[in-house]
Amino acid sequence: MTPKTQPSSSSSSLLLISFFLLHLSVILPSPVLSATLRSDIQTLESIIRSIDPSSISPSSYLSTWDFSEDPCEGSGTFLGVMCSFPLENTTSRVTEIDLDDDGYDGFLSDAIGNLTELTVLSLNRNRFRGPIPETVFQLRKLTKLSLTENFFTGDISPAITRLKEIKTIDLSKNSIAGEIPPRISALRSLTHLILSNNHLDGRIPALNGLWKLQVLELGNNHLFGMLPKLPPSLRTLSICFNSLAGRISPLHRLKQLVSLDVSQNRFSGTIGHEILTFPDISRINVSFNQFISIEVVQVTGMESRLRSLDAEGNHLQGHLPLNLASYANLKDINLRSNMFSGDIPRIYGKRLENSWRSLYLENNYLTGSLPEEFQRISKLTRGSLSNNCLQCPNNVSICQGIQKPKSQCTNAMQERLE
Ligand SMILES: *[C@@H]1O[C@H](CO)[C@@H](O)[C@H](O)[C@H]1NC(C)=O
Ligand SMILES: *[C@@H]1O[C@H](CO)[C@@H](O)[C@H](O)[C@H]1NC(C)=O
Ligand SMILES: *[C@@H]1O[C@H](CO)[C@@H](O)[C@H](O)[C@H]1NC(C)=O
Ligand SMILES: *[C@@H]1O[C@H](CO)[C@@H](O)[C@H](O)[C@H]1NC(C)=O
Repeated sequence: MTPKTQPSSSSSSLLLISFFLLHLSVILPSPVLSATLRSDIQTLESIIRSIDPSSISPSSYLSTWDFSEDPCEGSGTFLGVMCSFPLENTTSRVTEIDLDDDGYDGFLSDAIGNLTELTVLSLNRNRFRGPIPETVFQLRKLTKLSLTENFFTGDISPAITRLKEIKTIDLSKNSIAGEIPPRISALRSLTHLILSNNHLDGRIPALNGLWKLQVLELGNNHLFGMLPKLPPSLRTLSICFNSLAGRISPLHRLKQLVSLDVSQNRFSGTIGHEILTFPDISRINVSFNQFISIEVVQVTGMESRLRSLDAEGNHLQGHLPLNLASYANLKDINLRSNMFSGDIPRIYGKRLENSWRSLYLENNYLTGSLPEEFQRISKLTRGSLSNNCLQCPNNVSICQGIQKPKSQCTNAMQERLE
């Protein structure tokens, strides 16, 4: 039926064809009134019925859901809905629901399970509450489930393991409780698992089966126990603000890490040199744990991407690590509230003069006078040296604050030697 574009000699014949086509489309009635599968339309109706109409503002996506039109064919209607248009079939299917953050207040309808072609369900930053309906886990084609910043409650159903195609699960910033389903490791396509800021408890199950996982964020929950097996594909790992304990040596295998945050847990032992020398590592936050040592090896001749090291609030002892100066891209260093003793190395002053942006050494047992380079550091340098036993001249900006009496630092050293 569609005329093949002939190599037309003149533009007037083209004009004629297009006029003819225009005319055709006017006289022909639209082939079907409703192109979308009836049950998909009904599902959309029950989704909107479960949301308080007063929370749907006139400029929102949901306010465009006008059921006198077809969800897949209407123009300018049904914002936030994507459809497939199967050639062999006259019915379209809803494939994506990706709503705006309008503050929609309500429940996610059980009927969602009837949108069997759905690949994306994204309801971020609204006021959905109640449990995530079990029927969501019937959506076997789902590749993305993103419900961040809502008020969902209840547990993560073990049925989540039915989502065999899923790549992204983001349930962060809700009030979801219970344990992480142990068999979640069967979701082989998963690249992003983001469950931070919930009320999850229990142990983290072995996740090494998730061999494509790049981002794992479990921070701000009530997880405890030791680190499980984790997949070496990880690039971002954040498990801050939990009650995790034991050694972090299982992390030594995660050679592709770019960002590591294990802060605010009960980890102990050594922060191994493996971690500081991962080829792509840029941010390390091991603050507020019970580590007693950090292995800083020299990286001269090797490209280090490390920019930020935060080890505040541990029990790190001994002299300040000289080798930190060899990390060429390092900018921000925080070793506050540890048990470091001895002098501040002269090389620290040199780095502060030309590359380091911040240096926090407050609340340790450092002694001696400040290297002369500290006199020349820029006013923009941030940091603090207070609450040590240093001779810190007042005219050096980061010398603000008081020092402990020298005896406190020498006593602390002696107590440790005994
Ligand atoms: C084709 O249409 C039928 C009903 O008319 C529906 O059950 C089926 O799922 C459709 N096929 C696809 C691929 O959407
Ligand atoms: C899903 O569809 C079936 C049949 O099409 C229907 O009986 C059922 O009520 C629907 N479920 C919901 C929760 O609307
Ligand atoms: C490291 O983690 C602590 C606690 O979670 C946080 O307060 C701090 O800002 C983080 N440091 C950096 C450099 O992001
Ligand atoms: C601070 O004072 C000392 C002398 O007490 C002087 O040598 C030094 O240049 C001063 N530094 C700055 C940054 O003003």
